[in-house]
Amino acid sequence: MTAPAPFAVEGVSRTFGSGPAAVQAVRDVSFSVAEREIVAIVGPSGSGKTTLLSIAGGLLTPSAGRVVVLGEDITALGHARRAAFRLRHIGFVFQSFNLLPSLNALENVEVALNLAGTAGRPAKLRAMDILELLALEDRAHIHPNELSGGEQQRLAVARALANRPDVILADEPTASLDSAAGHRVIELMRTAVDAGEARAMVIVTHDTRILDVPHRVLLMDDGRVRPASDADRASLRLPVPG
Ligand SMILES: Nc1ncnc2c1ncn2[C@@H]1O[C@H](COP(=O)(O)OP(=O)(O)O)[C@@H](O)[C@H]1O
Ligand SMILES: [Mg+2]
Repeated sequence: MTAPAPFAVEGVSRTFGSGPAAVQAVRDVSFSVAEREIVAIVGPSGSGKTTLLSIAGGLLTPSAGRVVVLGEDITALGHARRAAFRLRHIGFVFQSFNLLPSLNALENVEVALNLAGTAGRPAKLRAMDILELLALEDRAHIHPNELSGGEQQRLAVARALANRPDVILADEPTASLDSAAGHRVIELMRTAVDAGEARAMVIVTHDTRILDVPHRVLLMDDGRVRPASDADRASLRLPVPG
């Protein structure tokens, strides 16, 4: 028997508003992410990516469908239990890095560990390890405003990974970076997944420059998600799936 996927979205829809002004942002979306798999969902602005990712992370309630993380239906949890589940199991990365400017890089990661109950020397050692994985070990004592954009985003990834979440959800993580810096961020995210620091990863993006790194690419348009066809793969210059 194969193990269940660590992460699954099942028949999820979301409508904003009602009557003639209603917007159906997400329409009957289903997909799952396998152990140590990175799935990218690529689509234009307004296609529903942020809405879908917010539902996937339990930040927003779907109008229909459910999200199953490690066998747990998070859509069925109450507000407080869902927040507790998020803290333990889900790491978020956003386009705006959301770092704490008064803390150095190491402390930014330690704060995430402290929130989840790890303090003192164990927190410092874990923070240092994860900074090293993101190639930031010589940046540990530097404040975010002295880091490059790519380094800031790598720090945000380090923070999201600190508590060994099961799932990392990233919303446009490379949108404010140049091509080389964006690529480096995604490559290091893949290194982290390959190293077992997260069990599954979903990246929603309109940045087609980074699509050679994820294991699988899905397309989102007008609220719907579908696999990339051969024609899509050719136009997006995706590598041929192995
Ligand atoms: N809170 C909201 N209230 C009303 N409409 C929203 C809200 N959030 C998103 N939408 C609408 O849903 C659609 C999808 O938005 P979004 O998920 O942000 O797409 P993307 O992230 O792909 O740009 C858009 O038409 C947007 O205007
Ligand atoms: Mg968005």
